[in-house]
Order: sequence, then structure tokens, then C-alpha cells
Amino acid sequence: MPNRFDERTDATLASLRAGGQYKHLQMIEGPMGPSVRLREFGECLCFCSNNYLGLANHPEVVEAGIKGLRDYGAGTASVRFICGTFTPHETLERSIARYMGTESAYTFVSAWTAAEALFPTLCEPGDIIISDELNHACIIDAIRLTTVIKKGVHKAVYRNNSLSGPGSLAEALANAKANKEVTGQIWVVTDGVFSMEGSIGDLATMRRLCDEFNAMLVVDDSHGHGVMGKTGRGTHEHFGMINPLDAAPTNANRVDIFTGTLGKALGGGAGGFVAGSRRVTELLVQRGRPTLFSNALPVTVACSANKAIELLLADPGMVARLRDNCMHARTSIRAAGFEVIESPTAICPIIVHDTAKAIRMSRRLLELGVFVIGFGYPVVPEGHARLRVQISAAHTREHIDRLVDALRKL
Ligand SMILES: Cc1ncc(COP(=O)(O)O)c(C=O)c1O
Repeated sequence: MPNRFDERTDATLASLRAGGQYKHLQMIEGPMGPSVRLREFGECLCFCSNNYLGLANHPEVVEAGIKGLRDYGAGTASVRFICGTFTPHETLERSIARYMGTESAYTFVSAWTAAEALFPTLCEPGDIIISDELNHACIIDAIRLTTVIKKGVHKAVYRNNSLSGPGSLAEALANAKANKEVTGQIWVVTDGVFSMEGSIGDLATMRRLCDEFNAMLVVDDSHGHGVMGKTGRGTHEHFGMINPLDAAPTNANRVDIFTGTLGKALGGGAGGFVAGSRRVTELLVQRGRPTLFSNALPVTVACSANKAIELLLADPGMVARLRDNCMHARTSIRAAGFEVIESPTAICPIIVHDTAKAIRMSRRLLELGVFVIGFGYPVVPEGHARLRVQISAAHTREHIDRLVDALRKL
């Protein structure tokens, strides 16, 4: 006799299939690049990866991983504080701190884990976390977890990127100040680049508001690192909130804490980080549950990520190439008659509204040799389904023109 779980899960999966919302995993048979070989569709141009700088299969990034594997073996076989901290972790963390212009950095197996470590560890009862409604799921879940683990931590949500007026960050900050139960730290958290919209958080204004209320600003810039700002350091650089690369790190007039991923522009392997003051990373080392009770980032991945950051620091030209490609793509997609959200990021969502339609369009594009994923509910709100086109520095003009030709055929 089927148990309750089997029954309800079969019903859920059947309804996804019936509604045309069932996700099929595409099998990739070679490395990630501007084009990929798909088991079912053959060679396709890839416009849905986060390989923004084209470093995922860069020969030096691959070689650094192979050398790491040879020199340090396949695994740490330990959490960081027992016997899982290897010299490549130290090298990578120093290089992330230098890249971010922070005093310190600490790595995790993913940005998701970094967020899950950060808030429950740093927050204490009487604190409040104020969060943008469109923040990534890892921030939302990390906040939920914090309020469960640390009873007495408050939370508030403001409308996406709304900084003044009803439902805004300014209002949430004023409410927090007036709330007698908020006796501790105020935290404000936003994505730098919103992953589904490709829009950016107005970090400069947020900084000013945080200063007014003595709040700490936390930014998850997973889609901004390697992409935004002249040298690709992130959305804060886009707003001029950064020292030149050779300046001593300081936390004045800037973001207090960053979380980010190594699984997108910075090599595309895996891993996440927290970058901020030394006291932040020290507390995470001492008290962060995901780091006390879960294995370290694999050394091979750390070696590849470190090489990716080195390459980026040595050649900011790749960020300029990405920016040119993004401008060309947005202009051409719009000229082909599609509704594209305007922004300076590498994420160009084409709004098609209906989830089943987005999935059908994505399937048709695959038949035309172009790999773009359709996103619908529950990843985005009902009625806001979209094709999310993502641009890479590794794309050529010709690749982008072929994408637009395929879109025209839809
Ligand atoms: C804004 C944002 N934060 C965090 C993550 C999670 O990154 P990771 O894959 O390293 O856990 C993602 C991944 O999609 C993201 O888009």
C-alpha cells in the first residue's frame, strides 16, 4: 500500500507534468564553455550558465586544479578546525580578501552554506535582519534559520530595491529604531545583483541609510563578482565604493560584509565565501555550525578558484569584453522585438509571463541549437515567467547574433 509521502509526491509530480512545468535535466557531455555538447541536442550555444568570464574551462584554471589534486590529494577528510585547513585555503582566502578589499575572508563549500553560517552565527537576540523581498533563497532561508536557532532575533522585509516611502528600507529602519524589542544590531541584507531580474541593489544609498541607523550592510554579490565594476570586483565597485586594487583594505564607506560564490564567474567550480572584518571571520571559525560540523572546500576547487581570481586581477579586460557583449545582446534582443529588463548586469531576462510558454520556448531554442532556460513559478512569481539569457565574456558577437536569430524564429 502506498504511504502518504508516495501518494502526495506522485500527485505533485503529475501536476507539474500536466501543467508543462516539469523540469528536465539536460545532460552535458563535455566542459562548460560558450557552447556545450548536450546528450539530446548535440552542440548548442550556452546562454544559461553563470560562466560570466569564461573561466570554467580556462586551461590555467583547469591545470591549477589538477596540480592541487596531485599535491594535496582528493579530499581534506576533515572539517576546517580539526585537520581540514590546507595551505591552498589560506592562499585563496587571502586572495579573496585582496580582491574584495576586506581585512579577511573565509571559504565554505557553497555560497548557500556561507549565508547559512553567517546570520545564525553573527546575530543575537535583540538584533533585527532587514532583507530585500527579492533576495536569493539562501538569504531567505538563512534568516528563517536564524530566527529559529536564536529566539528573539527579529526580521523585516522591504519591497525590492525600495529605499524610501511605504514598504521601503527607510521605513523598516525607522520601525526597527522605534521597536523596544530591537536592542541589538540592525543588519541590512541585499543581493548586489538580483539573480532573476538582473537588476542591482542601490548600495550607495543603502550605505547612507545604514550609517544613519548604525546598521551593518551585508551584500550577497554572487552574480556581481567578476561582472560589475571596472575591475569586476562587484556591485559596490559599480557605485565607486571601493579602494584601488593596490590600496590597503579598509571598511570605511563600503559594504561591511560580502557573501559570494566561487561557482559562477570566479572559476565556476564550487564554493562560497564571507569577506569582511577579521572579527567576522574569527567568529565564523569559532562558532559557525556549517564550518564546525561540515567538511572544508575541496583543495582542488580552492586551487582552481584562486587561479581564476589571479587571472581576473591580472586582466580586467575580460570584464570589459563581458560588458560589451552584454550591451550588444540587450540591444539586439530588444531590436528583435522582445521585452528585456534594462540593467548593467550579465543577466538579460526576456519576460514571457506564462511558465508553460517559457518552458516551451526554451525547448524550441534547444532544437535551434541555443541553450536558454525558461524560469517560471515557483522560482519567480506567477505571471512573471521568463527566459533568462546570461552572457559571457567567452561569447563572440557571432554567438550573440545566432542567439538573436533563434529568438526571432520563435
Ligand atoms: C544570489 C545568489 N546567492 C547565492 C547563490 C548560491 O551559490 P552556491 O551555488 O555557491 O551555493 C546563488 C546561486 O544561484 C545566487 O544566485
